[in-house]
Amino acid sequence: MDNRILVTGGAGFIGSHTVVELIEAGFEPIIIDNFSNSYPFIISNLEKITGKKIKYYEVDCNDQPALEKVFEKEENINGVIHFAAFKAVGESVEQPLKYYRNNVASVITLLEVMAKYNVENLVFSSSCTVYGEPDELPVMEDSLVKLANSPYGNTKQVCEEILKDYVSSNALLKAIALRYFNPIGAHPSSLIGELPIGKPNNLIPFITQTAIGIRSELTVFGDNYETPDGSCIRDYIHVVDLAKAHVKAIIYANKQETRSFYDIFNVGTGQGNSVFEIIKAFNEASGTTLNYKIGPKRDGDVTQVYGDVSKSLKLLEWKTEKSLLDSLRDAWNWQKHLEKQNYGI
Ligand code: UD1
Repeated sequence: MDNRILVTGGAGFIGSHTVVELIEAGFEPIIIDNFSNSYPFIISNLEKITGKKIKYYEVDCNDQPALEKVFEKEENINGVIHFAAFKAVGESVEQPLKYYRNNVASVITLLEVMAKYNVENLVFSSSCTVYGEPDELPVMEDSLVKLANSPYGNTKQVCEEILKDYVSSNALLKAIALRYFNPIGAHPSSLIGELPIGKPNNLIPFITQTAIGIRSELTVFGDNYETPDGSCIRDYIHVVDLAKAHVKAIIYANKQETRSFYDIFNVGTGQGNSVFEIIKAFNEASGTTLNYKIGPKRDGDVTQVYGDVSKSLKLLEWKTEKSLLDSLRDAWNWQKHLEKQNYGI
């Protein structure tokens, strides 16, 4: 397959790790990022990790003329991996239009531009959030999609619907939606990782910032859920394993011999871990003792979700290679790297 892959949001958390894995698999990634929730220093760190010059464009995926210019200039693009999107659940409730504009309108723009330039392979970032509070565990790709409980979650559902309808119209598109569970960890080099702006919403950055002293304590959101230890359960996957699933997915899309193709895959570990289990494992991985307290439940949190990943194992020929301890150790090393390095953020 022609090896040039456009990676929108390629300077972001999952995008940057995917750029590394694409290069390792022999692809030539080209990044598009507007740096609205990422930093240009990530590009130079990607160059340090890979030893390759990385091509990138500071472009917003909603800016159709600018996007077209990239497709015009970069001939022979074989596929697109579309990460660029907002992901803060709470913010999406406060500013829904910002989310629909950025996450939904950009997909439509991208599909139109891909059609214009005959680029047929697409991998889209979806989320296990589409399963809501599941009726059965682990969730399968054909488990019920529940009414979204935030505009963020709805943007993922709507984008999946757009892809399905577009492919049903016999459009030239081979698209795969990957439903991610909870991505954590960082690259083992500690040169790229999760970079939340301000106070983190997600568990792992909150834990690492607490352990390093930026935050005084973690609040565990609820200890009276109907789970063995009372805290919520999620499927935490190392971001490098998740990144590798994208490489497998773009290869899988490309080898489909039909004009129009759409499929959905869960990408997780298949295992659930509670918040208390994560704290215990973090203490072990970091050699520190995390300061935490129990607080009230957070609005919108589901009790537990973890995925059945046998479809990805079988069809994408992908599997996870990293453990929970690997993930937490890498996240902790990344936090320590950030403290040592002055990136001006
Ligand atoms: C949710 C979505 C996920 C989405 C992500 C975007 C679900 C099931 N998952 O992840 O698809 O991509 O938001 O941000 O809808 N916790 C604490 N204290 C904290 C922070 C978190 O106890 O300070 C707990 C939460 O209650 C939850 C777990 O840690 O049980 C993970 O939370 P978080 O990292 O925010 O991810 P999700 O809410 O699972």
